[in-house]
Amino acid sequence: MNNLILKAEKTHSLNKEEITSILSNNNIDNVLFSSADRVRQKYVGNEIYLRALIEFSNICQNNCLYCGLRAQNSQIQRYALTEEKLISTAQIAIDAGFKTIVLQSGESSAISTKTLCKIIKKIKQNDIAITLSIGEKEYNEYKDLKNAGADRFLLRIETSDKNLYKKLHPNMDFDNRIRCLKNIKELGYETGTGCLVGLPGQSIGSLADDILFFKSIDADMIGIGPFIPHPQTPLCTESKGSLITALKVMALTRLLLPFSNIPATTAMETIEAQGQLKALQCGANVIMPNVTDEVYRNKYEIYPNKSACGTTINNFKKILACKYAPTGRTIKMSKGNSLNYTKKHR
Ligand code: 5AD
Ligand code: SF4
Repeated sequence: MNNLILKAEKTHSLNKEEITSILSNNNIDNVLFSSADRVRQKYVGNEIYLRALIEFSNICQNNCLYCGLRAQNSQIQRYALTEEKLISTAQIAIDAGFKTIVLQSGESSAISTKTLCKIIKKIKQNDIAITLSIGEKEYNEYKDLKNAGADRFLLRIETSDKNLYKKLHPNMDFDNRIRCLKNIKELGYETGTGCLVGLPGQSIGSLADDILFFKSIDADMIGIGPFIPHPQTPLCTESKGSLITALKVMALTRLLLPFSNIPATTAMETIEAQGQLKALQCGANVIMPNVTDEVYRNKYEIYPNKSACGTTINNFKKILACKYAPTGRTIKMSKGNSLNYTKKHR
């Protein structure tokens, strides 16, 4: 088993059976984690890239069974930042030194693509990168957003298991999601995807397929997080995902996609204190501090008790430097492009 991990560390390839056997064996976790940490260091270095996350609207037309923002949750108060508020929030983050702004929202046309393009153009007057995480759109909308200046796009596949996808995403179409990812890639965005770990009905084999899916689309960024049940969703009584399994999926992803950018996700910190610190030590190289104003942040409840890491725009450098001191890594304010992307587009 150890040999299998060492082989993957050198060749960056594993088949489904090999991945499944590593995921099902809990005696080799530390070997896997150290291996992923070495690969992270060798390929993407010691820098922790920071991205400022702005949750600009919690309005969503979809009904993903796991998510607190689902349209049928009538117990949350919906909001969309005004154009001015969004731009001023981005500007505060930029003035604080962030070089990447992530604009995230539920899937909705509450803010039109045209308005978003205008906002992107405005923010892009600064020398920064913009990442969008706004769900499924038409090809031409992705194109307009790219032309307006958006650099990167995150669209998690959530699960690559088509049957499970169907059960968890009423009125959504797995094939359209794949089509969206292809379009995003074709348009030249740095392309991000990812999955949830510990979803009800998800098997180890399906997690192995998720990892192979990331590899097959040659993803530039991969976000992985444990499922956390939300009380106002149909999955409220299900058990939460396991941090260790999520970390193992992430570590294996690092072995197979050595050049990719992989965040230590907020869900990892929410499910267990020091979850992000652990993630940084087994493959992750990105942290996404939330810079949304507190009033809105609390309403962006995809799952309960979302960890805020005690950071505000004023204290984040100090807090993060302290928090991640045990990793011996440096927090640097660079754009942090995905090397997986730049090596293809040189
Ligand atoms: N637990 C963990 N992650 C969740 N997400 C949505 N709902 C939950 C939940 N209950 C994740 C999805 C989505 C991202 C923005 O948040 O993977 O892509
Ligand atoms: Fe909407 Fe995204 Fe939540 Fe699904 S995961 S309900 S698309 S915000």
